[in-house]
Amino acid sequence: MSIFLGVNIDHIATLRQVRGTKYPSLIEAARICEDSGADSITLHLREDRRHIQDRDLEDLKSKLKTKMNLEMAATDEMLKIASEISPEDCCLVPEKRQELTTEGGLDVASQLSRMKDVCDQLQSNSIKASLFIDADRRQIDAVAECQAPIIEIHTGHYANATNQKNTELELKKIIEACEYAHSLGIQVNAGHGLTLENTSAIAKIDSIVELNIGHSIISRALFVGLALATSEMKALILKARGL
Ligand code: PXP
Repeated sequence: MSIFLGVNIDHIATLRQVRGTKYPSLIEAARICEDSGADSITLHLREDRRHIQDRDLEDLKSKLKTKMNLEMAATDEMLKIASEISPEDCCLVPEKRQELTTEGGLDVASQLSRMKDVCDQLQSNSIKASLFIDADRRQIDAVAECQAPIIEIHTGHYANATNQKNTELELKKIIEACEYAHSLGIQVNAGHGLTLENTSAIAKIDSIVELNIGHSIISRALFVGLALATSEMKALILKARGL
């Protein structure tokens, strides 16, 4: 099965926002990523607008050659924005104001009726809902109840594991979760904290359709340029899959 790379360009916007400048251009960044093998462009419109701005979504939507994956909290404000922008995919994430980045998966199981309602609203706007969850069967069962077509498995615990034993443990959890979700007919994506060092083991999991990677690609782009940073990650995931 093929594997796709979504490049998250939030931190291009971070660089722009710290100085309030017009550069670097997200449109140019997205174009370079797409020309270098990205299969989709991911953006997280946070409630505090710390990087991506509302205007960026409007600017990018008509310019993308691939597809837009909009990450957002499951709030009424964000649902309204999503209905206006119409991204192809919408990845629902938990959001805490003080966090440096998304720290864990959504607890779908404990807010089932709200999540089902949110997925229905996205679906009625022809937007595919993706739920960002930890590698946990209970959450996958909850996603199945919501009838969301996609999950994104949170790989942050795997990426942050500090020794080999825990890395293997987290990887095993991810492999089992991917197999289980796939057996229920749910599309499996994964992401968070993935780098050139730790992505191969994840990309080898055959049921994973798409990996969403941001911070490490944008960081590496400082040294090798965005085109190479994107294309080498794409090459790595294809190689891991034997493609
Ligand atoms: N997937 C989701 C749902 C995320 O929230 C993020 C971070 O915005 C990523 C993937 C990308 O994570 P990273 O920037 O660590 O590659």
